[in-house]
Amino acid sequence: KRPVGVPDKSLARKVTKVGIVGAGLMASQLALLFARRLQVPVVMTDLDQTRVDKGVGYVLGQIEKTVAKGRMDEGTAAKLRGLVSGSVDKSVIADADFVIEAVFENLDLKKQIWAELEKIVSPEAILATNTSSLSVTEMAADLEHPSRVVGFHFFNPVAVLPLLEIIKGERTDDATLATAFAVGRELKKSSVLVKDAPAFVVNRVLTRFTSEVFQAVDAGTPLDVVDSAFDPLGLPMRPIALLQLVGPAVAYHVGETLHRAFPSRFADSPTLKKIVDAGLPLMVDDEINPEVAKLAVGGSA
Ligand code: 3HC
Repeated sequence: KRPVGVPDKSLARKVTKVGIVGAGLMASQLALLFARRLQVPVVMTDLDQTRVDKGVGYVLGQIEKTVAKGRMDEGTAAKLRGLVSGSVDKSVIADADFVIEAVFENLDLKKQIWAELEKIVSPEAILATNTSSLSVTEMAADLEHPSRVVGFHFFNPVAVLPLLEIIKGERTDDATLATAFAVGRELKKSSVLVKDAPAFVVNRVLTRFTSEVFQAVDAGTPLDVVDSAFDPLGLPMRPIALLQLVGPAVAYHVGETLHRAFPSRFADSPTLKKIVDAGLPLMVDDEINPEVAKLAVGGSA
């Protein structure tokens, strides 16, 4: 049964090549997923060659691991390796009909990237953003063809977690939305249509949770005590390990977006800010980083 608000799949456009903008960890996970499930060429692009090489290297490394586990034969692996490539030259995505952006969580940067890309790709190419919290409508506002912009939000680790939030901007058209759902099906994800509201659904709820964790720390309870207090709830991960997986800077930026939108519901945490500014990993050898624990001491909220 077609969910409410999802256009008929007959409107979906065919996807024959995928462009990925960004070559960080999220972008690299997406490159692997798209190549594996869609079986079409996937090109990654980023500002410097080192990042591009690292991104493509991640994909190749994951293919090796899958072969080593006996879950992929060498023929399939060879085909998959041949589908994924990367370049600093953005023109490699000129003939992509589905482009997904997974760069740093900054609205101006994302708008600038889309403005540049719109000059390169065809007017029909779908422009999808993996933003964690920013407005899809605003991102598309200055484009010549805003109707082909859609939010396509994955969860980490992308290969494992089945959820995909598809976000309809104010001007997203039916063909774009139908294509997004068709691609979601091919990726074997459980797609849900969500409102273009700050941090959408999952990150808004999750941030409320992690924000309260840091409120408790800011109020003076040690970080490791707050973290382990959730064990009886049977969550797949403790909160600090989860924040490490998401990336403390990403989590902080999602928190900032929500704080701006709903100041009384999402407090800024001085502790999380200190941790992000220090650039420290939250976890070391599966334990809370002692340096981080020290930064978290002394709250007085
Ligand atoms: N990348 C790829 N695969 C991974 C992985 C990773 N980072 N971490 C684990 N896996 C795979 C393993 O290889 C294993 O696969 P297999 O069964 O085929 O061998 C499978 O996941 C299970 O791994 P483990 O047995 O090692 O560990 P767990 O059973 O504890 O599962 C977990 C690990 C899937 C990460 C689980 O702890 C979990 O679901 N945690 C919660 C994650 C979560 O909530 N993520 C959402 C964050 S919000 C977000 O991403 C949005 C963004 O905008 C901020």
